[in-house]
Amino acid sequence: MSIARSKVAKKPFVALRPVPVVLVSCGHGTQANIITIAWTGILCSNPPQMGIGVRPGRHSHKLIQETGEFVINLPDEGLLDEVEYCGFISGQDVDKFAARDLTPAPGSAVQTAIIAECPINIECRVCHTLSLGSHDLFVGEVVGVQVSQDMLDERGRVDNSKFKPILFTGDEYWGMGDLLGSYGFSQRK
Ligand SMILES: Cc1cc2nc3c(=O)[nH]c(=O)nc-3n(C[C@H](O)[C@H](O)[C@H](O)COP(=O)(O)O)c2cc1C
Repeated sequence: MSIARSKVAKKPFVALRPVPVVLVSCGHGTQANIITIAWTGILCSNPPQMGIGVRPGRHSHKLIQETGEFVINLPDEGLLDEVEYCGFISGQDVDKFAARDLTPAPGSAVQTAIIAECPINIECRVCHTLSLGSHDLFVGEVVGVQVSQDMLDERGRVDNSKFKPILFTGDEYWGMGDLLGSYGFSQRK
């Protein structure tokens, strides 16, 4: 049985935690860049749309605006150093692909390169841009998805036990915990 908890009121902040941290690739050709993004999520299933919150001052913001595209690359735990690097260094000064030995590979539906080392790559075309304040929301329609072969089960579905995402709490990175149940388990009793 669950227990009602006593509460402390806090001033408003974005308290949702954890969120997955992603590496967003953007820019075409020699301009290719990577930005670490934690403000991201699924917004709509059909048509499939995802959003990223990007500060207007970022080099990546300019590239996404110019090309109308971005790719949400899902890093696994082994890419934590790259997540930090791409989250503190600007592509204005450095080629982050080259600096971290990351491989730009062709998108299936966009001109923006995917990051080959990331197990899942979600290719998006910008369909809405919303200025919210500190961040602009780029809403992207998902126009292509690539998944590493070694993430798939024998039926071609993503095997969740093989993917180890990085979760962000606002100040720490965590791994994913144990499987708690499968969707709709309560209905199958
Ligand atoms: C864990 C983490 C999460 C971040 N999340 C965001 C985010 O959601 N939006 C954003 O604009 N910047 C975010 N940043 C900061 C950018 O990644 C950082 O400023 C980056 O250097 C910008 O790169 P650019 O100048 O090449 O665009 C995050 C950084 C870290 C380390």
